[in-house]
Amino acid sequence: MLELRNIRKTLAGKTVLDQLSLQVERGRTLVIVGSSGAGKSVALQHMIGLMKPDSGEVLVDGRPLHSARGRALSELRRSFGMLFQGGALINWMNVFDNVALPLRERGGIGEEEIEERVRQALALVNLPEVESKMPPELSGGMLRRAGLARAIVTRPPIILYDEPTAGLDPVLSRSIDQLIHKLQHEMNVTSVVVTHDLISAFSVGDQVALLHQGRIVSLGTPRQFQADPEPLVQSFIEAQRMNHVEYGDREQRDMPS
Ligand SMILES: Nc1ncnc2c1ncn2[C@@H]1O[C@H](COP(=O)(O)OP(=O)(O)OP(=O)(O)O)[C@@H](O)[C@H]1O
Ligand SMILES: [Mg+2]
Repeated sequence: MLELRNIRKTLAGKTVLDQLSLQVERGRTLVIVGSSGAGKSVALQHMIGLMKPDSGEVLVDGRPLHSARGRALSELRRSFGMLFQGGALINWMNVFDNVALPLRERGGIGEEEIEERVRQALALVNLPEVESKMPPELSGGMLRRAGLARAIVTRPPIILYDEPTAGLDPVLSRSIDQLIHKLQHEMNVTSVVVTHDLISAFSVGDQVALLHQGRIVSLGTPRQFQADPEPLVQSFIEAQRMNHVEYGDREQRDMPS
């Protein structure tokens, strides 16, 4: 289980996470939605130990990650794969080397096995034949999928996804949703998905949480979340719907309501 307990974080004089608590059970998917600047990416960075809380705890199967350092921290981080916002590939390494990076950092894995695992990961995200390409040669959707391949290449039990479908067309977005679903159901992956995409949120989330000014203001199953009379929830749902209509996107206009 992955747990945040009463996390408080101030950045540049602003309280970004305000006593944030949440839990994700093993094999479950928690979706975090919220407006830009709500603290979603900062929350993910705390989960994986890239940021330390001013106070509060981060627990991975009961083990404290917020206070871990050095080898203990690396050990705990091995449980995680992360898809960073935008994909975040290293531009001067080709796709193969980017995806292989977490395996090479881990060490002790032979080049032959690395090759096999990288191929499998790229096949899983439906991105064959780009291994020798450099990131600037790829489209946004390809970069995202390569970032996803890198997140899953170590077969981590926990995967954090920061905006996995942002900027992708609806077909590609749904295929990413299917992949998140598949990883959860076939490999029992525990996931946290940060997204603005409500179709994605409602299709992959066991639980959906609305983060507002560094706090969870609503949490429930997709059905409970949509029925929550909390005005912040309803205005968020309405704002997302307006967005999709503005873009004239037929598929997304028929979003669950
Ligand atoms: N390293 C940092 N230093 C200072 N302020 C930061 C840092 N990282 C984030 N912030 C601030 O914390 C707040 C929350 O940022 P965060 O990136 O978590 O938002 P978000 O919910 O992920 O938004 P978006 O949907 O735009 O990605 C913002 O006000 C941001 O400016
Ligand atoms: Mg963000």
